Amino acid sequence: MKNTKRMISTIYESLHAKDLDELEDVYKNWASDYDNDVINLAGYVGHLITSDLLLKYLNNAEAKVLDAGCGTGLVGEVLFKNNFHNIEGVDFSQEMLDIAKQKQIYKSLKLVDLTKKLDYEDDFFDAVICAGTFTCGHVGPEALYEMVRITKEGGLICFTVRKQEWEASPYIRIINDIEKTDSWIKLEHNTCDYNVKEGVSCQLCLYQVN
Ligand SMILES: C[S@@+](CC[C@H](N)C(=O)[O-])C[C@H]1O[C@@H](n2cnc3c(N)ncnc32)[C@H](O)[C@@H]1O
Repeated sequence: MKNTKRMISTIYESLHAKDLDELEDVYKNWASDYDNDVINLAGYVGHLITSDLLLKYLNNAEAKVLDAGCGTGLVGEVLFKNNFHNIEGVDFSQEMLDIAKQKQIYKSLKLVDLTKKLDYEDDFFDAVICAGTFTCGHVGPEALYEMVRITKEGGLICFTVRKQEWEASPYIRIINDIEKTDSWIKLEHNTCDYNVKEGVSCQLCLYQVN
């Protein structure tokens, strides 16, 4: 990113919700430096904690996994190294997807807006993983309804929510709402480090779809 002196957290916190053009521009200009900046400058571990948690419960390497908001493919890299090769990545930034494609780890990659109805049948994926995408000005908790719809019975949904977003948006209400309708059950929910070098934490959640 051009102004790497700005802390990455400050950049996220200044993003205005619903300003998709601004967000698209951020990732368009950032894609080629993203991996280095988030890992080395911010100490981002969102991709590692979500992958580790999902892999603790997902035993079948043939499982069809959706990496929602895959970006440059940091999650896909971890899953691929662990012999999970049936991974579809979706993101709304073509430039981020282009970097992910170069890594040759995804079965397919698609340009998708996660705030809209998703073009997948019901009960399609064995697991959905979403790291770093429930964050300031990105995707809100309403997207969880679609993730539940496209996940098979017994399938897993693993995601992070950045601390500020967890507090600012109705995550608790929507998560409880899904639970009340018996659409999923909680397997794990923890507060975790997220951008370690910037002192930012997140909620790390794993649910099983009924
Ligand atoms: C912080 S990055 C996380 C990327 C990756 N999952 C990781 O762990 O490095 C957030 C990603 O969400 C994507 N994104 C933001 N809003 C989106 C939307 N409405 N639909 C799909 N992807 C979106 C961005 O393009 C970006 O690639």
